[in-house]
Amino acid sequence: MIIAPSLLAANYGRLAREVERANASGADWLHLDIMDGHFVPNISFGPALVQSLRPLSKLFFDAHLMCSKPQILLEPFARAGANQIAIHVELGEAVTPLLWKIKSLGRKTGLAINPPTGISMVQPYLERIDFLLIMTVNPGFGGQSFIHETLPKIQQADAWRREKGLSFHIGVDGGIDFKTAAECAHAGADTFISGTTLFGRPNLAAAVRKMRKIVEAARPGAQSARHAAPAHHGQAVLK
Ligand code: DX5
Ligand code: ZN
Repeated sequence: MIIAPSLLAANYGRLAREVERANASGADWLHLDIMDGHFVPNISFGPALVQSLRPLSKLFFDAHLMCSKPQILLEPFARAGANQIAIHVELGEAVTPLLWKIKSLGRKTGLAINPPTGISMVQPYLERIDFLLIMTVNPGFGGQSFIHETLPKIQQADAWRREKGLSFHIGVDGGIDFKTAAECAHAGADTFISGTTLFGRPNLAAAVRKMRKIVEAARPGAQSARHAAPAHHGQAVLK
C-alpha cells in the first residue's frame, strides 16, 4: 500500500518545511499536481519549483500532469527529478507517444482518468503503464467531495490487473479521507493520494499512519476485512 500526500494542500508560504514534514511522515510518495489553466481551470506550479524541492527529499516524486500539452513538459519534469509522470487518457491519440516518451526518459509511466471517462478507455494501455490514476473528483482543485460512482472503475481495473497478470499500481486521487480510502482499498486500490486529509492536518505522520492502517485492513483478502467493513472504519475515524 502506498500513501501519497498531495503537495497541493501544503502551505505554499513555507514549502521547504512542508516537504520536510512529508519526509518525516512515513509516506511513500509525494504527489505533485501540475495544472496548466487549460486542461483544468486552475494553475499550480512547474518544473522549476519541483527542481528546487528535489534536493530536500528522498521521497518518490509522482507528477500528475493535468495539462493539455504535456509533450512540452515531459523532459523538464524528468530533469527536475520526477520519478513518475502521469498524463491523462482524455488526450486521446497523443497518449501512446506520450507514454513512450516518459519511458524513454527513464521515468515510470502513469495514466490518469477523469470521473466521466469510461474505464474502457485505459484498457489498451494497461500493459504499458506502471500506474493507473483513477480520479475520484473532477481534477483542478483540492478539498472536493469523493465521487462514489468511481468505485466500480477501481474494481474493473483491479479485475483486469489480475486477469492479465499485470502489476501496475491503482491509485485514487480526490476526496480521499479515512472513510473513502477504505472504500477504495476494498475495491482494489493500492495507492492513496490525499491532500486535505494528510497535509491539511497538523500531525501529518499520524494521519499517514492512520490511513495506512485503515487501507491495509480494508484491502481485499485482509484477515480483518470481513469484520471491519469500510463504513465502520469511516464512522470510527470521522466522528
Ligand atoms: C485534484 C488533484 C488532487 C488533489 C487532491 O485535481 O489531482 O491530487 O490534490 O486533493 P484532496 O485530497 O484535497 O481532494
Ligand atoms: Zn493529483
